[in-house]
Parts: sequence; C-alpha cells; structure tokens
Amino acid sequence: MTPHDVAKERAGRLAASHVTDGMRVGLGTGSTVHWTIVELGERRPDIVCTATSVQTHDLALSLGLEVVSPDEVGHLDITIDGADEVDPAFNLTKGGGNAHTREKIVAAMADRFVVVVDESKLVEQLGPFGTPIEVLDFAPGVVSAAVRSLGATEVVTRPVRTDNGNLVMLAHFGTIADPVELGARLSEVPGLVEHGIFPGSMVDRVVVAGLDGVRELVNDPRA
Ligand code: A5P
Repeated sequence: MTPHDVAKERAGRLAASHVTDGMRVGLGTGSTVHWTIVELGERRPDIVCTATSVQTHDLALSLGLEVVSPDEVGHLDITIDGADEVDPAFNLTKGGGNAHTREKIVAAMADRFVVVVDESKLVEQLGPFGTPIEVLDFAPGVVSAAVRSLGATEVVTRPVRTDNGNLVMLAHFGTIADPVELGARLSEVPGLVEHGIFPGSMVDRVVVAGLDGVRELVNDPRA
C-alpha cells in the first residue's frame, strides 16, 4: 500500500464513525468510501443501506450489510461518498467511477451528505479533472455539441457504460469559474442524463485524509 492508499483507508474508516444504530445509510462508490463500507461490515451497526452502484451493492452485501433499493428506503439519514475534486465552497466534481447519476440521487435523499477524500482532491477551482456527464445513447454527437457550446474545449467518450446502460463522457472546461451556474446549464441539455458537478449546498462535511492525519471540514451555511 502506498502512503496515499493508507490515507484513503484511514479517512474512509473514520467517516464510518458518523453512522450509528438505526440509521438509513447511502453508500457511495469508489476506492475511498470502499473503506467506509468495509468498516461498517466489520462493525455491523443496526442499519439499512442503499447503494450507488452495482459494485457497492455487491461489496456491502458480501460484508453482511442489509441493502435495499432507494425506493424501498425512501429517505436516508446520511450518505457517505468520495469525490474527484472539492473546492473551498464544498462544490464537488464526481463521476470518476461513472456512478455520479446514482450518487446524486442517493446524496439528495439524505439529511446529511458526508464526503470522504484524500487531500489530493482539494482544489482551488473545479475543472482540471474534467466534468463527467452521463449521456443517453440516442444522439451523443448532438449532446456533445451542446456541451461544447457551453464552453467545453474537449468532450471524450469513455469506453464504458454506466450501471444505467448509458454512455459516459468527460467534458473539459478548463477551470470552472462558477460550477453551480455551469451545472444548471448542463442540466438543461436534452439527452444529458446527469453531470458530475455537485453544488456545495448538498455537502455537510468533508473528511480529508493527509499523510499526517485526518481532519474534517464542516460546511456551516452561517459561516
Ligand atoms: C464514482 O463515480 C465517483 O464519483 C467516486 O466517488 C469518485 O471518483 C471518488 O473515487 P475514489 O475515492 O476512488 O477516488
């Protein structure tokens, strides 16, 4: 394990401390929240979970956690998930693992959305990673052209399908001056199922792992 991997495991496991008996829990996708799920599997609190991907669903089930569909659980106390970029206003880029559509649904179902990252994910402005977009496989060229008209200089189709059977593209906008505004514009593109910009207003706290320890950034709307 590299020091980077050790930091991810530490943060992922620590984020599980926000989960207590009786909670309905949304489980994110990725290599950091993987450790949150492992920790929950070891601790086995009395919880009901819903998963943001087939991968997470299968992992949680294999560890003995109860996993139901989003519709069955209806509402969540907490969702814990990773991110690809976090800016100082808690805006996120997500979708590095192509799961951002389900992740956004499950994050929005929760009273509290806790993000878990290693500190390489903290950025001054979103954008360098690219913005993942899930696209219906009907008119991908038309959608791609619409995304370019919003300022993307490059839109690359990934050689995978999402768990929903759709295409996934990575749109490059350079650094994004106003991610909330760009997210709203992307949401208006017909055929674009979902984009990976999550506004900071969705996020309650970010658990950040560095090589010298873990810290929590709390998104206090009054601050
Ligand atoms: C999945 O589509 C993503 O949104 C992940 O949550 C994100 O890519 C973080 O993954 P890692 O923890 O593996 O970096």
